[in-house]
Amino acid sequence: MARTPGQAARRDPDWEGVRLHVVSGKGGTGKTTLAAALALALAADGGRVLLIEVEGRQGIAELFGIAALPYEERRIASVSRAQLGLPPDEGGGGGGGEVFALAIDTELALLEYLEMFYKLGRAGKALQKVGFVDFATTIAPGVRDVLLTGKACEAARRKGPDGRRRYDAVVMDAPPTGRLTRFLNVNAEVAGLARIGPIHTQAQAVMRVLKSPETAVHLVTLLEEMPVQETVDGFAELREARLPVGGVMVNMVRPPVLDAAAVAAVDGDHREEVALALGEAGLGGRSRKTETVRAAVEPLLDPLLAQAREHAERVELEREQRADLQQLRLPTYELPLLGEGVYLGGLYRLAGELKRQGAA
Ligand SMILES: Nc1ncnc2c1ncn2[C@@H]1O[C@H](COP(=O)(O)OP(=O)(O)OP(=O)(O)O)[C@@H](O)[C@H]1O
Ligand SMILES: [Mg+2]
Repeated sequence: MARTPGQAARRDPDWEGVRLHVVSGKGGTGKTTLAAALALALAADGGRVLLIEVEGRQGIAELFGIAALPYEERRIASVSRAQLGLPPDEGGGGGGGEVFALAIDTELALLEYLEMFYKLGRAGKALQKVGFVDFATTIAPGVRDVLLTGKACEAARRKGPDGRRRYDAVVMDAPPTGRLTRFLNVNAEVAGLARIGPIHTQAQAVMRVLKSPETAVHLVTLLEEMPVQETVDGFAELREARLPVGGVMVNMVRPPVLDAAAVAAVDGDHREEVALALGEAGLGGRSRKTETVRAAVEPLLDPLLAQAREHAERVELEREQRADLQQLRLPTYELPLLGEGVYLGGLYRLAGELKRQGAA
């Protein structure tokens, strides 16, 4: 999606109509961080957004600096455009919105699921006691995934007593790319196994949501070879499985230290020029004698030039990775590497960046 500079300040979001945002990517690239930032960005204009964590690691609680989340939807943040560093909306209004979070507990989710179909009541508690739940979720890891995707789709479709949707959007911090397609497709398998009956109907309903234009699967990557390859493969796999492809979130992007001309010049022999420049910058001490200055800056030359070469190599590698990502022809967002790490302020900054670039 080409973007003209004039549009940068105010543009329509790329995912109008999407209610379920699935965020995946290679391990450690920033899935949890960007899922949270996306939830904040989606809530900034008002409304309610639910952020769902499925891996049981309490990453959301850690990120927002709050106590471990129970298996219960909790309001964890309110957010406005101003908090994301954005100008007020032209339409006025908009006091901002709210982000809720849910860390899914597989055991409780399974009981809820069985309850839904079999009205277990106290028998459910008994099952829990004899370790049936453990048994079912360990023996059949697929069962776990059925519960997780089912819960996310249920939240995306849920309506309040007034008939309006409970959440304007749901963001799921999903398993990494390697397990993603299987994870999202597990209900198709279940629907095939249970050919009729309530479980079949439920599994089919989940797949209908996941494959509809109401869902978008975004992949997080870094500008490095392995994660980019995994992203390219990941999108191909999603397409093959007919799952709705979302955008590319390029995380931890470092600003270039040298401009293009400087990078291009790195290969030449510039010892003399650099020595001169260092001398002029005063690094050779106070002496006016060329030889004295030269002797003082000499030890700096090789390390400095080596660093410049290293930087130029990195810029070149990143350029190649960007080109590979561009081939995907998908909306792409670049998020800066936060030097201080991701504290709450940093998270809001990433959210602002996502919104400015049209992800929300
Ligand atoms: N833009 C950024 N700038 C600086 N640090 C970042 C950025 N994004 C994420 N991080 C940091 O990188 C680490 C990994 O991020 P995160 O936990 O979100 O990744 P993940 O993909 O969810 O990892 P996992 O695969 O383990 O679930 C964290 O320490 C996080 O604070
Ligand atoms: Mg994570």
